[in-house]
Amino acid sequence: MDFQKDSYGNELRLKAIEKFDLISNLEQLEEFKSELLGRKGSITDLIKNISTLPSDQKKDAGKNANLIKIFFQDLIQEKFDDYTSTDAEESNPTLDFSLPGRRKSHGSFHPTTVVVREITKVFTEMGFDLAEGPEVELDEYNFQKLNIPIDHPARDMWNTLWVDTTSDVNIQPLLLRTHTSPMQIRLMEKQNPPIRVIVPGKTYRYEATDATHEWQFCQVEGLVVDKGITFAHLKSTLEEFAQNMFGQKRKARFRCDFFPFVEPGAEVSIDCFKCDGDRDGCKVCSFTGWIEIMGAGMVHPEVLKGVGYDPEIYSGFAFGMGAERISMLRNGIDDVRLFYSNDLRFLKQFS
Ligand code: DAH
Repeated sequence: MDFQKDSYGNELRLKAIEKFDLISNLEQLEEFKSELLGRKGSITDLIKNISTLPSDQKKDAGKNANLIKIFFQDLIQEKFDDYTSTDAEESNPTLDFSLPGRRKSHGSFHPTTVVVREITKVFTEMGFDLAEGPEVELDEYNFQKLNIPIDHPARDMWNTLWVDTTSDVNIQPLLLRTHTSPMQIRLMEKQNPPIRVIVPGKTYRYEATDATHEWQFCQVEGLVVDKGITFAHLKSTLEEFAQNMFGQKRKARFRCDFFPFVEPGAEVSIDCFKCDGDRDGCKVCSFTGWIEIMGAGMVHPEVLKGVGYDPEIYSGFAFGMGAERISMLRNGIDDVRLFYSNDLRFLKQFS
């Protein structure tokens, strides 16, 4: 900057520069700044005093004072940047490196994701493939091709959330899938046996919620189709799964149950992991010694025929379980609504 020797404020400027050269830390710089540019600073005074000058000097004095102000503002800023750059931070003794760091909070997997991954791992290690499918499903796949015709009373087993398609007569009835079983059909229609697959995914029911019912939850479906598949394969596969999830000494129990898409159908239970299936049982197994974990069965010949497989040549088994139920059992959770009520105190326990 171009300063004249006898110009207004020149003396102040020279003195300030001398002082500036002696500054050796941030504190001194701050002090210098307020002495010069603060409310009662010398440059502030210099500008104020212009009003007392004879009017023919005011213009030049104002210009000079302003130049001085800008000059020091820039100088101070430059030095300030030097002191606060990363290198300076490391060597500046005014920083306290013994202060504890600020902990970053990490997100964590949702408990349903955790259990689905655990279940998936057990089956993929047994050689199962993994597939996923649509949550908005056709009536045809969710029911009809699973041997549940329109108007059949078996539909009452699945309280259904329907998608309103009344405005378009060309659209088939649509619904939010009530189970992952429709993926059995979609997969069999697409490929020939052998099939060995599990399908995790969201499912929906028109449900009044309580501690054991949610309107949205997650299921894991399993399907195996090949030549010569028998109930023995079903039993050993699911027992292997039960032992991996609930402990090596678990036993699996199969009792007759009805699902329209399997024949015979079964309800699968394990002996209670809490009381080891003690005769008197405990609270976890409702004093029965057994805990139900899923539905299963041999794929119904009508279902095989429907997708173009010859039931005289091929047979298969299928199973389906609620993922949250498995997590509840493993972790002693007594209310399914906790999974989707977004309480971080609950969710954080699964990180
Ligand atoms: N989809 C059935 C349900 O949601 C569960 C089920 C039972 C799946 C038997 C199956 C099976 O694959 O074979 O209640």
